[in-house]
Amino acid sequence: MTDYPLLHRQLLALVQDVPYPIANLANASALLWDTLPDINWAGFYLLEKDLLVLGPFQGKPACIEIPLSKGVCGAAAREDRTQRVPDVHLFPGHIACDSASRSEIVIPLRKNGAVIGVLDIDSPSPDRFSPEDQTGLEEFAGILEKAL
Ligand code: SME
Repeated sequence: MTDYPLLHRQLLALVQDVPYPIANLANASALLWDTLPDINWAGFYLLEKDLLVLGPFQGKPACIEIPLSKGVCGAAAREDRTQRVPDVHLFPGHIACDSASRSEIVIPLRKNGAVIGVLDIDSPSPDRFSPEDQTGLEEFAGILEKAL
C-alpha cells in the first residue's frame, strides 16, 4: 500500500514556492516513478488548443499528440473525470504507447475550473489501481494544480 499522506507531503515540499510549472511537473513525475510500485509510465499530457501534448514524464518514449476524442487520456480530459481502467485491452480507443501496459489511471488537471491537462500512470499488471489509489492520486493532482 502506498503511503499517500507521505507522498502528498513530499510533493508539497518539492513544489512549494517553485514558480516554474514544467519543473514542478517534472519533479512530480519523478516522485511518482520513484514511489509507486509496479508502474511502467508516469507523466503528463498538457492541453494545447484541442490536443493533448506530451509533457514531463518517466518511462519509455510516448506518443506526442492525443486528440481529445482518443484514448484514456482524451476521455479523462473530455469528460473532466478520472478514468480508472483495470484492463486497457477492454477500453475502446485505448492508445498503446507501451505494449506492456495492462492497466491505467488518468486524472484531469484543472486550473480556474478548466481542464489544462492530465496525469497518466500505466502499469504492466491488470487492475493495478484501487479506489484508494484513485483518491490518493486525485489529491496528489490537487496539490500539483496549485503549483502550475
Ligand atoms: N494509453 C494512453 C496514451 C498515453 S500512454 O499510456 C503514455 C491513452 O490511451 O490515452
